[in-house]
Formats: sequence, C-alpha cells, structure tokens
Amino acid sequence: MLKIGIIVGSTRPGRNASAVAQWVNDIAIKRTDVDFELVDIADYDLPLLDEPYPPAMAQYTKDHTKIWAKKINTLDGFVFVTPEYNHSVSAALKNAIDFIYAEWNNKAAGFVSYGSASGTRAVEHLRQIMAELQVADVRAQVMLSLFTDFENFSEFKPDARHEESVNAMLDQVIAWSGALKTLR
Ligand SMILES: Cc1cc2nc3c(=O)[nH]c(=O)nc-3n(C[C@H](O)[C@H](O)[C@H](O)COP(=O)(O)O)c2cc1C
Repeated sequence: MLKIGIIVGSTRPGRNASAVAQWVNDIAIKRTDVDFELVDIADYDLPLLDEPYPPAMAQYTKDHTKIWAKKINTLDGFVFVTPEYNHSVSAALKNAIDFIYAEWNNKAAGFVSYGSASGTRAVEHLRQIMAELQVADVRAQVMLSLFTDFENFSEFKPDARHEESVNAMLDQVIAWSGALKTLR
C-alpha cells in the first residue's frame, strides 16, 4: 500500500501548523486505499544543516540526519502543510528539506498552505524547490486564509468547502505517487 507523509512545516511554539496538519490527516485517513502518517519535523530535532557533504552525495554522518532520511525513505509521497514566512516557507521546513536528497527523489507532493494571502507565495517557492529534489508537484492545492479560516489568526476553523480541495489534492498525490513508484 502507498504511504503518504503529511509533513508539518512549522516548529514555532504555538504554531497553527499542528491544527492544520491534524485536520488534513483526519480527512486523509477516511481513505482506506492509502496509508497516511503525520511527520512532524519538530520531532526530529534537526539543527541547522551540519553535514559536511552535500546531501546529493548521500554521505550522511550524523544520527539525526540518518533518522530523518530513514523516515522520508519510507514514504511514497508527501503533503506539505506550510505557513508563509516572508513570502516563502519557514526556515525550519527548508532546513529539513535541505538535509537529505535521494530520499525525496521520484515521489509526488501536494500542498496545504495558510497565511494572509493563503500561503500561496510559500507554495510557489516550494514548487521550485521540489523541482531540484526531483519531486513531482501536483496542481491541486489547498489554500487557507488567516482571515477567514482562523479566528484571531490562531484558532483554526476551516470553511467546509476546503474538505473537497483536500480530497482533490490527495487524488492527484496518490495517483502520481503510485506512478512514480514504478521509477524507483
Ligand atoms: C517570521 C514570520 C514571517 C511571516 N511572514 C508572512 C508573510 O510573508 N505572509 C503571510 O501571509 N504571513 C506571514 N506570517 C504570518 C504566518 O503565516 C502566520 O503567523 C502563520 O500562522 C504561521 O504559521 P505557524 O503558526 O504554523 O508557525 C509570518 C509569520 C512569521 C512568524
């Protein structure tokens, strides 16, 4: 069975990312054809990149890198839950992405974003990053507004219509994850 990781893209204390990722997971696990796993980068205690070799050389020296690589290696595709920080992704998410390389390759990714402009600029950056990682980014995307899907910018109350967009995005991630598995 395919396994899709729902990557929690913020490590900030009091982050909105936890509630958003949990909501995505609750919708996703209604499907019985695919396994989903919440992958919280905060659980991996990654420092700022401290590997001596570029990750594409696959010579990981640190235990935290090996543990992170092992987790991402078990996944066939990804849903990145990302806030927008200064029109891009959080430094914590970019750092976690940068740590490893081959474990991302030939897999698919979809995006759930939030922010004052629904996190769309962060996702545009992520799509460029995905290209370098040889990850196929799907078109369907879930865009949550800090103004209308959160109360006081902090209590997550998503509009009901977003459930449909989560499922549309998951349909594409699942299809492409299955197709790309044949390449690996
Ligand atoms: C460092 C920083 C930069 C931010 N920059 C933006 C921004 O450029 N655009 C935007 O819409 N929101 C921005 N925000 C607001 C965040 O999108 C919002 O606080 C969101 O809840 C952060 O995600 P988190 O709570 O999961 O960490 C920024 C927040 C922080 C902490």
